[in-house]
Amino acid sequence: MATNLAALVVLAAFLAGPAACEGASICFNGWLRLPTYNPWLCSRGSRTRGLPWQRGRSPSGLGLGHGYYDNRWSRSYCPRAEVIVRGAVRDAVAAYPGIGAGLIRLFFHDCFVRGCDASVLLTTTNSNNSDTEREGLPNKNSLRGFEVIDAAKAAIEAACPGKVSCADIVAFAARDASYFLSNRRINIRMPGGRYDGRESFANETDQLPGPFSNVAELQASFAAKGLTSDEMVTLSGAHTIGGARCMFFSSRFSEMDPAFAAKLRTQCNGNDDTNVNQDDVTPYVLDKQYYRNVIDRKVLFTSDAVLNSTDTMTQVRENANRAGAWERKFERAMENMGKIGIKTRADQGAEIRKVCSRVNN
Ligand code: HEM
Ligand SMILES: *[C@@H]1O[C@H](CO)[C@@H](O)[C@H](O)[C@H]1NC(C)=O
Ligand SMILES: *[C@@H]1O[C@H](CO)[C@@H](O)[C@H](O)[C@H]1NC(C)=O
Ligand SMILES: *[C@@H]1O[C@H](CO)[C@@H](O)[C@H](O)[C@H]1NC(C)=O
Repeated sequence: MATNLAALVVLAAFLAGPAACEGASICFNGWLRLPTYNPWLCSRGSRTRGLPWQRGRSPSGLGLGHGYYDNRWSRSYCPRAEVIVRGAVRDAVAAYPGIGAGLIRLFFHDCFVRGCDASVLLTTTNSNNSDTEREGLPNKNSLRGFEVIDAAKAAIEAACPGKVSCADIVAFAARDASYFLSNRRINIRMPGGRYDGRESFANETDQLPGPFSNVAELQASFAAKGLTSDEMVTLSGAHTIGGARCMFFSSRFSEMDPAFAAKLRTQCNGNDDTNVNQDDVTPYVLDKQYYRNVIDRKVLFTSDAVLNSTDTMTQVRENANRAGAWERKFERAMENMGKIGIKTRADQGAEIRKVCSRVNN
């Protein structure tokens, strides 16, 4: 009895203890190479909902619509909005395909933190916070493509001021980058109607799964946003384009295909900040090659390699082998990701930003 009571007191003290994310090192575990992970240590706040026994509901996307800017009689009429974004993305990707990878990732990092509300673009906020998501460990010196969003926004503001949100521009840009990088094989039906948020905090980027995450952590972080394990596997296929820094995978050369590891060792040459292609086979094409790479041990991160677990390997094989299967699933999963935590006109503290990097006055 006494020991039970003592245990209860310790537990209660622990649960009532200080906020979860003091030790940034603990809660950014998936981003830092640490020996152990204890979800309870990071369980206050959004992560709680991510534990496997507390799955989030699939995002409804209520308030979003296809052709949202095409209705002549609505307050959001801006028929050239999507055309302008597509042009900006086409030019940027033609000049430099890596930017397309950046735009797809920007959308993921926006949607997973505070929902798809362009909080990832802010450098200053309603509370005058400048330690925004951009400063967070997963984003700093890593996200790219901001200038494409800004160029599209400027052109859209010139055509129809105050109508099109930065959040929708990010979503359309990810759709269009997927289209061009897949040689037009991936056509995401991306609805519009998101409003922009007015806050952004660096510490909330710990909700993003990290390269050292295991399969349970990956599933939990996606479940916290209402996405399934299958969607997690499907969306991970985006690692068939773009690059990554050596610091995130140089600890696991010995687990990789030896020839692949040898090539990476040479490229990295002991430098943590060197950037290498994620997909060694078709580095600039958004295709299903990623899943063949998982099977062949030619992927970079722990979070990629662990998809060979019994829970996910069936999907990996199917995506690798069946033509068109992954592409269709990717279209749906991206559309679904675009519904996470969206804000609409009815929401307090939501707006159509004039400039994507700062809130309206
Ligand atoms: C499943 C969990 C995921 C983890 C742990 C993860 C982690 C990472 C890491 C560590 C990098 C390299 C960053 C750097 O070196 O600076 C990266 C790059 C990238 N990720 Fe992910 N990611 C995940 C899921 C996704 C998803 C869902 C998408 C999009 C649908 C995505 C798209 C990308 C792209 C396109 C790049 C290359 C970016 C560029 O070249 O600019 N990732 N990811
Ligand atoms: C995150 O940072 C903000 C301000 O930058 C702070 O108010 C908040 O308490 C922090 N949250 C956590 C969980 O540490
Ligand atoms: C933020 O700064 C502006 C101008 O510098 C000021 O008017 C406003 O009251 C500040 N807001 C907060 C929440 O501190
Ligand atoms: C998954 O791959 C890793 C190395 O990348 C290996 O150590 C592990 O045994 C594999 N697991 C299964 C179930 O095949």
